[in-house]
Amino acid sequence: MTTLAVKKAEAFDLLCDSIASDKSISHRCAMFSLLSDKPSRIRNYLRAEDTLNTLAIVKQLGAKVEEEGDTITITPPKEASEPEDVLDCGNSGTAMRLFCGFLSSLPGHYVLTGDRYLRRRPMKRVTGPLTQIGAKIDGREEGNLAPLCIRGDRLRSFNYESPIASAQVKSAMILAALRADDVSTYREPELSRDHTERMLRGMGANIESWDTITIEPMRGPLEPLDITVPADPSSAFFFAVAAAIVPGSRVVITDVTLNPTRIEAYKVLKRMGARVEFTEKENRYEPIGDITITYNGRLKSVEVSEHISWLIDELPAISIAMAVAEGESVVRNAEELRVKESDRITCVVEGLKRCGVVCSEREDGYLIEGGEIHGATIDSCGDHRIAMSFAIAGLLADMTIEDVDCIETSFPNFLDILSQITEVKTWK
Ligand code: S3P
Repeated sequence: MTTLAVKKAEAFDLLCDSIASDKSISHRCAMFSLLSDKPSRIRNYLRAEDTLNTLAIVKQLGAKVEEEGDTITITPPKEASEPEDVLDCGNSGTAMRLFCGFLSSLPGHYVLTGDRYLRRRPMKRVTGPLTQIGAKIDGREEGNLAPLCIRGDRLRSFNYESPIASAQVKSAMILAALRADDVSTYREPELSRDHTERMLRGMGANIESWDTITIEPMRGPLEPLDITVPADPSSAFFFAVAAAIVPGSRVVITDVTLNPTRIEAYKVLKRMGARVEFTEKENRYEPIGDITITYNGRLKSVEVSEHISWLIDELPAISIAMAVAEGESVVRNAEELRVKESDRITCVVEGLKRCGVVCSEREDGYLIEGGEIHGATIDSCGDHRIAMSFAIAGLLADMTIEDVDCIETSFPNFLDILSQITEVKTWK
């Protein structure tokens, strides 16, 4: 188990041009390449634990993966082969839930498993609706907990209204719909990140989205992907918070996706008073560009209760900004935080309390009284985003974070970038 110590930082001016590639898009690149019959070319695929596990699964399903420099070429098999071993999604809820939808309609027998954190996370949100359209999936707690056994079969089309705005649930259902027997529709309470719709449409799938998403079954293989994965705005956001809280600082983040469902956290920082500028440079599958965040005086408190699905991965880092802002900040309607890589409501509040911040837990969020952050020893709860959020808090007061190996799941070079602005030390 690795421990990390982060020292208080001075003002910095940082060009972030090596932020980890987008995790959501990378998972989808690997998986969706199996929907074509031609090789897909992917530049800047995220080489982190989560997405390397997905790539390994794609290989187990029979794809050939060749790597040359920053490009990987995935050649799909003529027919997906039934893997002889279990498919290990590691820590990734995205991999497990999307593969549920993908494999449910693919003839064969598959077993999906993951690490001890993932095996505790709820899968009924995908196995429930999939079972209703004919999928054969079983697991502990009546199909709620991994390991999950899937026997792929022909699925029925559906009209599904999801009770939660979740891109993982939506993507699983869209993947199932692509091989269903007729046209399907899907509705969600608010638009969740829409990489699946954009990428599949780019590959020629017939998917229309207005209030309702309409998915036609594939008539044959889709076109291959030819894509450069942009930088991950959720990973970059740790450095955005850093610039917003360390007086006199600035960060420029380059070539990041500016998909509106992914940059809401930057808009929250703006509402809190930081200077935030977006510059769109190109648009291929997604708008892509640069974001500049400049310190602009002490932040102001904020209430966050809308577009929670657009903020779900960034709320731990936003909480660090709230902890030093002027006044009381509130997070509401965010019960989904409890079923992430950790219970992020409890972990954030426990961590902040250790730093001397006055805060309290609610069922669906928390209250944070802005003040000063004091140095402390924090448990990451095995959650990469908790570990990185408190590492950023360390820029204001020396911080020790225990169990930081999880950072490898999404952002392997996080500490290299952090060490450009402060002193960091790790030990086992
Ligand atoms: C993701 C969707 C979100 C997000 C996760 C990645 C995706 O999860 O938290 O990190 O790539 O589809 P939910 O669908 O559970 O909101």
